[in-house]
Amino acid sequence: HGTLKLAVIPGDGIGTEVVAEGLKVLDAAGVKAETTTYDLGAKRYHATGETLPDSVLEELRGYDAILLGAVGDPSVPPGVLERDLLLRLRFELDHYVNLRPVKLFPGVTTPIAGAGPEDIDMVVVREGTEGPYAGAGGVLRRGTPHEIATQESFNTAYGVARVVRYAFAKAQARPRKKLTLVHKTNVLTYAGDLWMRTVESIAPEFPDVTVDYCHVDAASMFFVTQPSRFDVIVTDNLFGDILTDIGAAIAGGIGLAASGNVNPERTAPSMFEPVHGSAPDIAGQGKADPTATVLSVAMMLDHLGLTEAAARVERAVAADLAERAGAGTRSTSQIGDDIAKRVAG
Ligand code: NAD
Ligand code: IPM
Ligand code: MN
Repeated sequence: HGTLKLAVIPGDGIGTEVVAEGLKVLDAAGVKAETTTYDLGAKRYHATGETLPDSVLEELRGYDAILLGAVGDPSVPPGVLERDLLLRLRFELDHYVNLRPVKLFPGVTTPIAGAGPEDIDMVVVREGTEGPYAGAGGVLRRGTPHEIATQESFNTAYGVARVVRYAFAKAQARPRKKLTLVHKTNVLTYAGDLWMRTVESIAPEFPDVTVDYCHVDAASMFFVTQPSRFDVIVTDNLFGDILTDIGAAIAGGIGLAASGNVNPERTAPSMFEPVHGSAPDIAGQGKADPTATVLSVAMMLDHLGLTEAAARVERAVAADLAERAGAGTRSTSQIGDDIAKRVAG
């Protein structure tokens, strides 16, 4: 492997702060990377009206991977940056697997009484290119008492099958070999039926994987009462979004939750980012925990086949987390420094 070509989109709010620490740790891991930073986000939008110019999108296709902080800012109407920048990247680069581990590291406090690392260790395979996120919608008689707003969910046989197959393979590669489909087949009868039939039709390809089903409301409950039920979860884009914030909460907080927007066929670069957003409430204060971004960097290295470097970063994070209780309050850059030191040393 030569030099890694990495595109960096720090984005808005704490995005810039946590990405700096992710890059610090990448450097400490001795990974040779040539990084190019893109100023996409609220600032660029205000200056030029651009969210994601086509030329930039085309340029991004040429990288080995993309590291993103977070996008979204109170000064920009909701949806502009989220949809036209972040979701457009996921759609255009065909990130149909949104990989979100929910893993409690030793020494980390969980709000789930009596639960330990052996109880909270799952991977949510969230569909990334369809569902309500891709659906068309519209509004009639806006602003009147008779307003009608629609927001459809798109689910294709092709799109569901490919993410389900990926999740089965993921489950097969883990010791428990258990896959849970999470949906809402009792209400969303068309989409739920497609998901259910797809799981049933692919299951025979993975005879050693145990298949389970859980409605999303019950799954939300089990996340906080009995998380050990879950090994690999496969679910719709929106359910996966919500479940992984709950997942973050039970595994030590949103500041620790990593994710990868993965294009498994590698027809375009995959994109790694923390699960959290731009956190305007704490932006610019050095209060953000960069650990989620550092773990996203580890996921990126793993995806790129740099498994040794990935494991080293993850071990450094684990060691940092194990001693965190006694470490006192540290700033964003102090946490980055401490993890970087462990990675290098
Ligand atoms: P958020 O994740 O930004 O913040 C929720 C809460 O968690 C806040 O109290 C915040 O301070 C805290 N938090 C988040 N990350 C943290 C970290 N690393 N360390 C410590 N605390 C942290 O979610 P939100 O407030 O709902 O959204 C804010 C903006 O971010 C919105 O514009 C939203 O659209 C956007 N957003 C973007 C992404 C993304 O880019 N992937 C993800 C989620 C939200
Ligand atoms: C996430 C975020 C995004 C999502 C938003 C900002 C579009 O919440 O990455 O979890 O809903 O996917
Ligand atoms: Mn989210």
